[in-house]
Amino acid sequence: MRSSSLLSLSLAATAALAATPAQWRSQSIYFLLTDRFARTDNSTTAACDTTAAQYCGGSWQGIINQLDYIQGMGFTAIWITPVTANLEEDTAYGQAYHGYWQQDIYSINQHYGTEDDLRALAAALHERDMYLMVDVVANHMGYDGAMDSVDYSVFNPFNDAQYFHSPCVISDYDDQTEVEQCWLGDDEVSLPDLDTTLTDVQDMWYAWVGELVSNYSIDGLRIDTVKHVQEDFWSAYNDAAGVYCVGEVFDGDPAYTCPYQDYLDGVLNYLIYYPLLDAFSSTSGSISALYEMIGTVNSACADSTLLGNFIDNHDNPRFASYTNDMSLAKNVAAFVILSDGIPIIYAGQEQHYSGGSDPGNREATWLSGYPTTSELYTLIANTNAIRTRAIGQDEGYITYSNSPIYQDESTIAMRKGTDGSQVITVLTNAGADGSSYTLSLTGTGYDAALELVEIYSCTSITVSSDGSVPVPMESGLPRVLYPASGLEGSAICQ
Ligand SMILES: *[C@@H]1O[C@H](CO)[C@@H](O)[C@H](O)[C@H]1NC(C)=O
Ligand SMILES: *[C@@H]1O[C@H](CO)[C@@H](O)[C@H](O)[C@H]1NC(C)=O
Repeated sequence: MRSSSLLSLSLAATAALAATPAQWRSQSIYFLLTDRFARTDNSTTAACDTTAAQYCGGSWQGIINQLDYIQGMGFTAIWITPVTANLEEDTAYGQAYHGYWQQDIYSINQHYGTEDDLRALAAALHERDMYLMVDVVANHMGYDGAMDSVDYSVFNPFNDAQYFHSPCVISDYDDQTEVEQCWLGDDEVSLPDLDTTLTDVQDMWYAWVGELVSNYSIDGLRIDTVKHVQEDFWSAYNDAAGVYCVGEVFDGDPAYTCPYQDYLDGVLNYLIYYPLLDAFSSTSGSISALYEMIGTVNSACADSTLLGNFIDNHDNPRFASYTNDMSLAKNVAAFVILSDGIPIIYAGQEQHYSGGSDPGNREATWLSGYPTTSELYTLIANTNAIRTRAIGQDEGYITYSNSPIYQDESTIAMRKGTDGSQVITVLTNAGADGSSYTLSLTGTGYDAALELVEIYSCTSITVSSDGSVPVPMESGLPRVLYPASGLEGSAICQ
């Protein structure tokens, strides 16, 4: 699919242009809610009250209009929320603006545009050598009303109760049978739970997912509510999709979540999410728990470099709702991009949006005016740039297991990349009031006298004769080191 766009367009009609896990490993993803990112009219003032939970007018054409903004931060892919037709009622929890209450999987959600608009989005991305990831839901449909009042005939193609588990509420999340067989939602909006153990239901999903990928030239899938479907449903689903799939297993326990990677290419990195949030959301967070978890994930998951890393998303309160300290926001963004896994930055994170729990965390990005000079926009651009540089220069970078090499109460240092071109990332939760000092860092693997550059401040650093690196720490800011010779000819600090 990295061929000419003309070729992509002509192939699109006949075949899925599958992007493999290996191709996704080196991407960097910008995640957005289609309804909340950008409008066709390019408005930066159109009202969008998150608490009202109504459609705000974002569209696929709007995304096309703002691809410069996304690509300007160095992203190589976008993940968009589900594209299927949802319930149309204004429920007790508002409208289905987020796309997770589908009813007809063979129609698209017209609030976001036409089928041609969705195809045009894929084409516009491919023209920029970028990938399209689409969110899909196989666990459930959506219905405005009580569990025992569902009119199954409104669903396409699952138009009969026979395709679903009998209604029941998940009362115990430790009971995996209940988690898989009972229903999410409640008696205001119920989420009828498909019986994915039935061969009929499996066949319908596997046929559908292959067609969806092919019809819209999709390069990868993000799969919703994975832990609510039995594990062995997923291998054939992933195969039928024919592209990289990353599943949402909403659980921070490696013993529970890592095994899903035996059935899907990747899972969202909730394992790191919790200790990462704890480490950086205050100046007293635990660095050691994060340090430990990096090692645990490496050994417990099949491939840590295929996990999806994040600190913000539409289901958890935003990082900036815990702390408004900009230096902490910078450290946490640097971790997401430079540790093992595929980075995922959620729209609005680059503008330090601070919405709390759903629906507060689903602010309209357009209300920021899309400034490209804000502190986090720049930090993210610089961090994606060094990652892309390292990937280009060091064949081993992307599969090298990120190794923590140092920790103290407020600092963690990590190494990723093969000898001679490794990236060293030094992060701190000291916060904006953190003192200025020089950290003498050992274990970097750099040779004595090597010239390095700290890429955020463009400071030159020389490795000491004993091999230690004098890292200038200041105001709680993150530090990223790279050999100076490796930056020649790039746009980084030249
Ligand atoms: C919106 O922005 C795009 C890209 O900059 C531009 O091509 C298009 O004409 C604009 N549309 C409107 C309605 O202003
Ligand atoms: C894909 O396109 C074909 C041909 O137009 C159509 O029959 C099929 O329903 C489409 N499938 C999906 C999932 O969009």
